[in-house]
Amino acid sequence: MHKKMGRNDLCWCKSGLKYKNCHEAFDIKLSEYKSRGSIVPPRKIIKNKEQIIGLRESGKINTALLDFISDKLYIGMTTNEIDVLIHEKTLALGGIPAPLNYEGYTKSVCTSINDQVCHGIPSDDVILEDGDIINIDVSTIHNGYFSDSSRMFCIGNTSPEKKRLVDVTKECIEVGLSQVTPWGFLGDMGQAIHEHALANGYTVVQDIGGHGIGLKFHEEPWVSFVSKKGTEMLLVPGMVFTIEPMLNMGTDDVFIDEEDDWTVYTADGMPSAQWEVMVLVTEDGYEILAY
Ligand code: MF3
Ligand code: CO
Repeated sequence: MHKKMGRNDLCWCKSGLKYKNCHEAFDIKLSEYKSRGSIVPPRKIIKNKEQIIGLRESGKINTALLDFISDKLYIGMTTNEIDVLIHEKTLALGGIPAPLNYEGYTKSVCTSINDQVCHGIPSDDVILEDGDIINIDVSTIHNGYFSDSSRMFCIGNTSPEKKRLVDVTKECIEVGLSQVTPWGFLGDMGQAIHEHALANGYTVVQDIGGHGIGLKFHEEPWVSFVSKKGTEMLLVPGMVFTIEPMLNMGTDDVFIDEEDDWTVYTADGMPSAQWEVMVLVTEDGYEILAY
């Protein structure tokens, strides 16, 4: 619980404003939602102006890294080469690759091909082949601020079936973003994405989700892409989280590689696609921080 703030005290968000001129009305509104049974965000995940500026900078680097890698891919390239390029470019742009040494992860980026759903580990043994689809998931730390986004790339002549999976997954990002609005719910976004995927004949991975992000790589809330309208956490200005649905051509069942303990695969070996955007909830909608 929080100590009750005096109306003339400085606001808890460190804006330097008096509480009555800053988050007082916000807190009252939040407690009303809470008393009606909504899940409301804890103060610690609500970003202030200074933090938002820091996250914007970090996100710019992350987006630049994906732009940078987009014309470097070729048939015959190893995913380890992608890792080296991302690692070096991240440092050149003044950042630190967030995946490196994160919970024992040994590379600077995740590279997930075809039936790999996410968290594929770059390797000298994995070679991009004609027709592959690959997710490149980049995360950056800059001045202590974390950013995270990912894109799909089609290598050479990719089948229309795989291309459509990649395109519909990207559409899901747009559909999800359209639901991000203050005083809406995270579940509005989850349901919209799920419906768009199902309408196109795909399944959505249930066991892995998005996440809050900011001063840590993974913060509250956990973000589902199969949730229901009006459920999950209330969205308020200053929240930052990722939208990163994983769509499968076949079953939504997945498993984690027993050997490396990271790579997630589809249970039936069918292709999977993922795009990821990092988004800030604003006073009147949202702002994309990394994509
Ligand atoms: N961007 C990925 C995620 O948020 C990073 C996973 S942790 C890593 O799920 F160590 F694999 F990078
Ligand atoms: Co992420």
